[in-house]
Amino acid sequence: MKAMEQLGDDSTTVIWGDALSALDVHVPDRSVDLLFADPPYNIGKRFGNTRDRWPTDEAYFGWCREWLTRCLAKLKPTGSAYIMASTQSMPYFDLFLRDRLTILSRIVWSYDSSGVQARRYFGSMYEPILFAVVDAKSYTFNADAIKVQARTGAVRKLIDYRKAVPTPYNDEKVPGNVWSIPRVRYRMDEYEEHPSQKPETLLERVIKASSNPGDTVLDPFSGTFTTSAVAKRLGRKSIGIELEEQFVKIGLRRLGLAHEWRGEALKPLDKTYERRNGVSARARGAKQSGVLFEAAQ
Ligand SMILES: C[S@@+](CC[C@H](N)C(=O)[O-])C[C@H]1O[C@@H](n2cnc3c(N)ncnc32)[C@H](O)[C@@H]1O
Repeated sequence: MKAMEQLGDDSTTVIWGDALSALDVHVPDRSVDLLFADPPYNIGKRFGNTRDRWPTDEAYFGWCREWLTRCLAKLKPTGSAYIMASTQSMPYFDLFLRDRLTILSRIVWSYDSSGVQARRYFGSMYEPILFAVVDAKSYTFNADAIKVQARTGAVRKLIDYRKAVPTPYNDEKVPGNVWSIPRVRYRMDEYEEHPSQKPETLLERVIKASSNPGDTVLDPFSGTFTTSAVAKRLGRKSIGIELEEQFVKIGLRRLGLAHEWRGEALKPLDKTYERRNGVSARARGAKQSGVLFEAAQ
């Protein structure tokens, strides 16, 4: 296994290494306010040199039990956890977690896609997220920080006559458990070269709702370090762990922690939107970087 390295500053920790050993060595028990875990889904994507495929479901869930058990030990008694997984694996995560935490929401992150998803069944257009807390009587939930526009009565300027005093409908509400947030696209400023980068908007909602400024957010599978980037912007501390060097380099640059890595300048992706020889810039970039964009789940 490759050596582990801890980088960063006082509030933002980047760990290049395997999640299991990094959690054991670098993250004290009961020190984390918010866990966001977006692990490999066991669906055959390629993360740099790491293949996202276990020989059997049991082998995958065995590994998930290892990292989940470690992560849960890191949570403070008032802590919260958001766990992502493929639709097919989520029932297992749900059963495992509900024995150990209180699951408060089963969230559906839904998105649209212009491409054809499937022709012989209903294509996958969502990813599930579990939101759970250690103690259902004592946890952070900043409802006012994440309100969204209420699209019903208020927009039509309706009055709610069921109230003792007739009142206009609220124009804001706490979001429900279906979150329509676009996936990260090549043309978006936040885009990095990674096969399953999560949108900053999604992380913003999670972090604003379930942590306060100064709190510590842990992401054991950081990828492009979206969680750490949003945590930093929102004044939270973060610990991000990632196995693949190419993504650690993205994280260090994205977080403003380094301009060079072992003599190599860390530059943002040079995006061009022109087609050259009939090949799109995105496809060219993917080929050059060795990142494979494989079929979604
Ligand atoms: C689904 S992606 C996370 C994407 C991330 N949420 C983002 O917004 O970019 C999962 C990441 O876990 C990393 N990974 C896989 N196995 C790992 C391990 N054992 N320890 C740490 N990271 C690992 C992969 O390289 C990949 O970048």
